[in-house]
Amino acid sequence: MANSIRFFLNGQKLDVAVRPDTTVLEWLRSGPRLTGTKEGCAEGDCGACSVLLGDVVNGEIRYQAANSCIMTMGQMDGRALVTVEGLKGETLHPIQAAMAENGSSQCGFCTPGIVISLAGLVANNVAADDHAIHDALAGNLCRCTGYRPIVEAARKVVEEGGASIPGPAVAAFAEVQPADEIAAFGAMFHQPRTLDDLLRLRRDRPDAVLLAGGTDLGVALADFHGDWDEVISTAHVRELRDIGETPTHLAFGAAVTWEEVLARVASLYPSFATLIRRFGSTQIRSMGTVGGNIGTASPIGDGPPALIALGAEIELASLGGKRAMPLEDFFLDYRKTELKPDEVIASVRIPRPAAGQDFRVYKISKRYDQDISTVCGAFSVMREDGIVISARIAFGGMAAIPKRVREAEAALIGRRLDEEAVGVCAAAIRDAFSPLSDWRGSAQYRRMVAANLAERFRRDLSGEMVEVMAL
Ligand SMILES: Cc1cc2nc3c(=O)[nH]c(=O)nc-3n(C[C@H](O)[C@H](O)[C@H](O)COP(=O)(O)OP(=O)(O)OC[C@H]3O[C@@H](n4cnc5c(N)ncnc54)[C@H](O)[C@@H]3O)c2cc1C
Ligand code: FES
Ligand code: FES
Repeated sequence: MANSIRFFLNGQKLDVAVRPDTTVLEWLRSGPRLTGTKEGCAEGDCGACSVLLGDVVNGEIRYQAANSCIMTMGQMDGRALVTVEGLKGETLHPIQAAMAENGSSQCGFCTPGIVISLAGLVANNVAADDHAIHDALAGNLCRCTGYRPIVEAARKVVEEGGASIPGPAVAAFAEVQPADEIAAFGAMFHQPRTLDDLLRLRRDRPDAVLLAGGTDLGVALADFHGDWDEVISTAHVRELRDIGETPTHLAFGAAVTWEEVLARVASLYPSFATLIRRFGSTQIRSMGTVGGNIGTASPIGDGPPALIALGAEIELASLGGKRAMPLEDFFLDYRKTELKPDEVIASVRIPRPAAGQDFRVYKISKRYDQDISTVCGAFSVMREDGIVISARIAFGGMAAIPKRVREAEAALIGRRLDEEAVGVCAAAIRDAFSPLSDWRGSAQYRRMVAANLAERFRRDLSGEMVEVMAL
């Protein structure tokens, strides 16, 4: 058992005695006084607090931007943390220099976070195009400069061949291997390595916080300044970090992050990949996991509707064994699921695309990036000679749980995907739900937009959508 957290901060190995549930932002600003990392929203939305996290992946160090305001010090154990101060060596980091030369900063409050996000981008993606640059900036709000000079600065560094992040060598990570347990100032942080160990802890410590990426849990911690006296982290559980591939399926361990899911599904299900790119921001996707998205059981979570329409199966595990079920059966009522107190979500399995299958998922939100869904609709059909032989349709934001709409599916089966069949399907979607009205959208708006997505799906598949967009 360790009594401190060992990690690299700006290249220097540290052993820090601090409560593991202290947020990284709080510690950075009040401990080593690295005040370049700013606090804006304190809930993962603005990017002012962005830092880079380095992990060894396949023998190389990979740095990813993350929000320090909703991340805890326990989650730093064994990693390399880089703040804006650590990017500068003898000279400015190329992104810092390009931002300064290009007039990419006015008040400067957002600038450290923007520099961090772009440094992460140009270290990992030396061929970044404008899409990738915009994507990297989706989690960083700038209220006064405007994004054009910021994007231009990024483009300049990309054209010059990117730039690396200063930090420790791969071999040095052996000196900061994560501890199995950290106990400090009355708080305990468990880091099991195997599913068995995780399940034993889950049985023996039912009141402990089960933490994956913390992008849901960390918001409450930061907002309400709560205490987590005992945490069980899933981040190092081998089985939960696995991505399994068979000729027919992909299986994602529950602790696989959305960035990792994105890399695997991009070529298989491009529409799912588009949805994932709109899931929070790079900072959120680099920490947030597929298991956390399902475990939180939010009615407006984006993963479940897409996964349900894809025919995903979820596997739950306890010391008593494993059980699997279709994902749609996991959700029972508002924030109520099949998960028993001694169980964890082990993995989610999705079929590979089949011949004749078409899949689309649509996220309707007030903003394109970094916003929560008002409605999320996912459609998957299998056709033979133009006739629909099977269909799966699921929605988020329309009920207390993410829901499959069997009546709407039935309306399509045995028919061509024409306006008439889709009209019946849309009416079934409208009739299936009595959604809530809230500030994101009225019940009437939600029912109308959900039904209209059926027609959008038809037009996408018929090619009409491309023609409309070209006008
Ligand atoms: C700024 C911001 C933007 C966001 N944008 C989106 C968005 O666009 N779309 C969207 O859907 N969500 C969004 N989220 C919510 C969140 O990022 C996701 O739900 C994410 O997938 C949660 O994963 P996590 O690993 O961070 O979960 P955590 O916060 O670690 O955990 C969430 C819940 O799941 C439980 N849990 C975690 N792992 C397991 C497991 N293996 N077994 C059982 N229970 C488990 C935890 O105990 C907890 O109750 C956003 C959040 C923020 C802060
Ligand atoms: S302070 Fe806004 S994302 Fe952290
Ligand atoms: S420079 Fe002022 S918020 Fe971006």
